[in-house]
Amino acid sequence: MTPELVAPVHTGGPTVIREARVPKPCVIVIFGAGGDLTHRKLMPAFFHLGIDGTWPDDFAIIGVDRVAKDDATFRQEIHAALTEAGQDPDGQSEAWQLLEPRLSYLQGNLDDPATYQAVQQRLVELDSAHPGVEGHLFYLAIPPSLYAETIERLSSSGVLPRTVEPSQRPWARVIIEKPFGRDLESAKALNGVARKAMAEHQIYRIDHYLGKETVQNLLVLRFANSIFEPVWNRHHIDHVQITTAEEVGVEHRGPYYEEAGVVRDMFQNHLLQVLTLMAMEPPTTFRADAVRDEKVKVLHAIRSHTPAEMHEFAVRGQYGPGSINGKPVIGYREEERVAPDSVTPTYAAMRFLIDNWRWKGVPFFLRSGKRLPARTTEIAIQFKQPPHLMFAVPEGEHIDANVLVLRVQPSEGVALRFDVKVPGLGVRMAPVNMDFDYADGFGTTTHEAYETLLLDCILGDATLFIRSDEAEAAWEIVDPLIAHWEEKKPLHFPNYAAGSAGPAVADELIARAGAVWRKIG
Ligand code: BG6
Repeated sequence: MTPELVAPVHTGGPTVIREARVPKPCVIVIFGAGGDLTHRKLMPAFFHLGIDGTWPDDFAIIGVDRVAKDDATFRQEIHAALTEAGQDPDGQSEAWQLLEPRLSYLQGNLDDPATYQAVQQRLVELDSAHPGVEGHLFYLAIPPSLYAETIERLSSSGVLPRTVEPSQRPWARVIIEKPFGRDLESAKALNGVARKAMAEHQIYRIDHYLGKETVQNLLVLRFANSIFEPVWNRHHIDHVQITTAEEVGVEHRGPYYEEAGVVRDMFQNHLLQVLTLMAMEPPTTFRADAVRDEKVKVLHAIRSHTPAEMHEFAVRGQYGPGSINGKPVIGYREEERVAPDSVTPTYAAMRFLIDNWRWKGVPFFLRSGKRLPARTTEIAIQFKQPPHLMFAVPEGEHIDANVLVLRVQPSEGVALRFDVKVPGLGVRMAPVNMDFDYADGFGTTTHEAYETLLLDCILGDATLFIRSDEAEAAWEIVDPLIAHWEEKKPLHFPNYAAGSAGPAVADELIARAGAVWRKIG
């Protein structure tokens, strides 16, 4: 058992780097307003921004979707969706009263030019009714197969003008959801369409992991503290483990997941994004391109592998039946709308090597899977053993090396493990955790990732969004592996039981480097 030290309490008031800002009036158009993303993520985020008082007095949201309905029905649906998502629009009536009258609905098909004319007309009406409106945000909460056509039509209809300078008003920005393409080629094609229609500064490729509080805290931890930088390199770090474990299965998303699999769903975006923030060189300023330039350099420095070596560096798994929290659950192949002989991986573990001066020889182990024992996302930095130990450690025992853990979810915080002397007359050592928990330290619940990112986009801050070259560089890394796995079908799927820590091949992968995975949960 690891004894707990007293959690540190933050001292003094916070230093403001970038004050929470209230945006200028704007109009948001959500394509796919009847969909899951709008209901589960976007509307709760808008509503919560209202609770925080982060909305300007003047803003409007136009929902666009195929089904015919009037504004009142749309508003009722959003009210129900907020409740479903755990918000309380009746209890928080002030925020709901702010949001409700600003919601309106437009019925239209995305392949129909009339839809874009109707959007344009509604924008003109809103702009003239609200002269302070500074810009228009178009959110593509639609199936990825429709991204290109929608962008083209937005552009050709004149709804989405190209703005040469970011400072130009009214601004026009587009948020594109993941997956951004399904391989390098399609990502390049989509980038081509997007760049033909608009300037790069208008394109916001979203990855909600970048909006998570602890992921951003990684930047503060690394670059606002001087104690970490000297040890943040191959001289002191033995290896790094980045884990995103989920308890849930594929839920109702069988068809999407069958096409995607864990590498496209989690590695190409979320895990590689976290890795870049962990590994990048210090940017010179906290500006979008300065940060993104450094992230891209990391992606380019990741070593590639030939198909023959790939099994050494990456393993996959698929869950079979098992139990989660004592309740029996079905296997992936039995899930709704999943092929009974599916070979789609629901788990992967990989070893990455970054060929640069800072990281040469330091393995980065990344793993992610569905139906694991707990929902956990963390970055664990495992330091090296002391070079020489003057204490006599009994035969067969070892001391635990220092570990710095950044917990992204569920309980956000930072913990440092180090060894101390156990009180007593003899000299005995024990590892302890110095644990900082966000909720304990600041007494507030943190914001949902989508709130941060929506606000950033409206404010024109692209630091936490993915640039075109980043998206392509990430595909360059995972594409060969996906192709290799699609060609070499797995023979032993399912190979881990739901509720277990993943397949045995993942343990073997990390053991080859003399390490073990941290316990999940
Ligand atoms: C999404 C994936 O991007 O991220 C899902 O498509 C996954 O499959 C989800 O469940 C995980 O996000 P979070 O914020 O719950 O860790």
